[in-house]
Amino acid sequence: MTDGHDTSAHGRLESKDLLGLEDLTRQEIELILDNAEGFKTIVTRTVKRVPTLRGKTVVNLFFENSTRTRTSFELAARRLSADVINFDVATSSVTKRESLLDTVETIEALGADFVLMRHPSSGAHQYLGKQVKASIINAGDGSHEHPTQSLLDMFTIRENKGSLKGLRVCIVGDILHSRVARSNIHGLKRMGAQVTLVGPPTLVPDELRSLGLQICHNLKEGIRRADVIYMLRIQMERMSRNLFPSLKEYKHLYGLDDDKLSYAKSDALVLHPGPVNIDVEVSRAVLNNPRCKVIDQVTNGLAVRMAVLYLLRGAKGHAQTADS
Ligand code: CP
Repeated sequence: MTDGHDTSAHGRLESKDLLGLEDLTRQEIELILDNAEGFKTIVTRTVKRVPTLRGKTVVNLFFENSTRTRTSFELAARRLSADVINFDVATSSVTKRESLLDTVETIEALGADFVLMRHPSSGAHQYLGKQVKASIINAGDGSHEHPTQSLLDMFTIRENKGSLKGLRVCIVGDILHSRVARSNIHGLKRMGAQVTLVGPPTLVPDELRSLGLQICHNLKEGIRRADVIYMLRIQMERMSRNLFPSLKEYKHLYGLDDDKLSYAKSDALVLHPGPVNIDVEVSRAVLNNPRCKVIDQVTNGLAVRMAVLYLLRGAKGHAQTADS
């Protein structure tokens, strides 16, 4: 080993970009999860830094706010010894109407190998990926996809259940606005899990049945056979009209508390991508239940994002490997 990166799984992703889970094969998802296992070992040891991305430059470009994704990507890049730039959109020339492409081309001219971007427009990453040499990583695009969130969710499920194949996963809540739900639907189905969507008809569009999903509008019924209950945040900021009468009524029908959780299997896990509207989607008591893996999801995000950076090429080709 020349770089201290002693993970047993290696390999490469074909594409230079990570745009969404719709584009990844089962083997590619497994490759990321297997490599993340190795990185999880690395980040728990005393010396957490490896030189795998030494000489590479990673730019965080967030047009929407973030705590988990932005911080864990920054930490992931630093743990891999990359140089990290946190681009501040609010004080940049974006405020002088510089276009997205001009902004990214400028960043690339300064040497960026990876651009991690969150943007309100669905498809912004696909467009940029075709225009620039840097690896574009989707950290959330509109209501479309949030692939690394789904990867860390699947990692957490696999860690607790051993495998994703054949599991019943129930995704609950604001499916309509959720890029996390879309990525998880693609990823979980590809990995052989069965997905059921639960929520009010206004937030769970019937068209999704065409993707081979079950839809249920009753929470107690929907979670009865689930191995994993995946609660979503109500995204009030994306709602231009009232899609349910009140948060109080939503909580009454779809908020997960101890009573409703008692209808699920005794070993069913509870996940949520965060941030949680506590006592709306999930009660504080359920958050404190050992079956609730919200904190583990955050922790696992670091290892999964290290694996993604490692497996993508970046602008100047693949990162240094353990045996190169
Ligand atoms: N789950 C998630 O994307 O959280 P942040 O918005 O805090 O990054």
